[in-house]
Amino acid sequence: MTRVPIHYEESSCTVGLYSIVASMMIPLGLVPALIIRIVFSHGKEDILGRHDAPVRCIEYSYAAGQVITGSWDKTLKCWDPRGASGQERTLVGTYPQPERVYSLSLVGNRLVVATAGRQVNVYDLRNMSQPEQRRESSLKYQTRCVRCYPNGTGYALSSVEGRVAMEFFDLSEASQAKKYAFKCHRKSEAGRDIVYPVNAIAFHPVYGTFATGGCDGFVNVWDGNNKKRLYQYSKYPTSIAALSFSRDGRLLAVASSYTFEEGEKPHEPDAIFVRSVNEIEVKPKPKVYPNPPA
Ligand SMILES: *[C@@H]1O[C@H](CO)[C@@H](O)[C@H](O)[C@H]1NC(C)=O
Ligand SMILES: *[C@@H]1O[C@H](CO)[C@@H](O)[C@H](O)[C@H]1NC(C)=O
Repeated sequence: MTRVPIHYEESSCTVGLYSIVASMMIPLGLVPALIIRIVFSHGKEDILGRHDAPVRCIEYSYAAGQVITGSWDKTLKCWDPRGASGQERTLVGTYPQPERVYSLSLVGNRLVVATAGRQVNVYDLRNMSQPEQRRESSLKYQTRCVRCYPNGTGYALSSVEGRVAMEFFDLSEASQAKKYAFKCHRKSEAGRDIVYPVNAIAFHPVYGTFATGGCDGFVNVWDGNNKKRLYQYSKYPTSIAALSFSRDGRLLAVASSYTFEEGEKPHEPDAIFVRSVNEIEVKPKPKVYPNPPA
């Protein structure tokens, strides 16, 4: 097994005129981690709130008008960025989680929270008193990333052990029968299987296909419905730490940044590549029939 990657970085989301930046630069236990709001028009910064440990992830809900942060302090917090400055004014609620929060994803009013210990909580943002569903990851190893399907029916979850699970919210037997998992970001070398963590998943906003990024430095694009790989981009300098499509799906931002899966070692500098996306790389291919249907 690869070592659990630990890396400090910033995550951010853009809310209209603001950028909200969650700071994870501060070593655990020394200073509470801050959530900072930056106003684009005049570059002014203020503190939206804080957690007691690094803030791992951040999302903005257009439905609720709230910023949602997940932290290693084992809580989820919701903030109203329209409130006046100051923790008391902007904090909407604090929701304890079973473990450190590793990844968050939103679709409509649904919020999926993936934590250490392979736990997954599914919330309805309109009623945060309790999770709507408490689940365990169907993958055996540590969760790296969770992303909801754009069509709102479920989520993809990736682990440190080169695998992605496709899950559905609907608990009916028919729906659960559709779930599956697949192996990716691995290679065979001298008869030995080398398995890489899958750090990032990003759904294409138009076609519903998705890209995964791994510690092998590769970005793959998948067609979930046909269970096929559509494309592989040429290798990036080091581990893929994050991926994001632009809103129209024409650009893909790729963060190539060593994630310390092999501990301290010389590595390539961090870099962000923004590439244009060709339709052929992300558009599902029609099924090929052996004989054309009459
Ligand atoms: C919120 O959800 C909980 C548990 O799912 C339920 O018991 C409670 O009645 C709900 N509250 C409202 C206001 O819908
Ligand atoms: C929604 O998207 C998922 C993931 O791409 C797919 O497996 C599922 O079939 C889609 N569901 C519908 C109803 O389109």
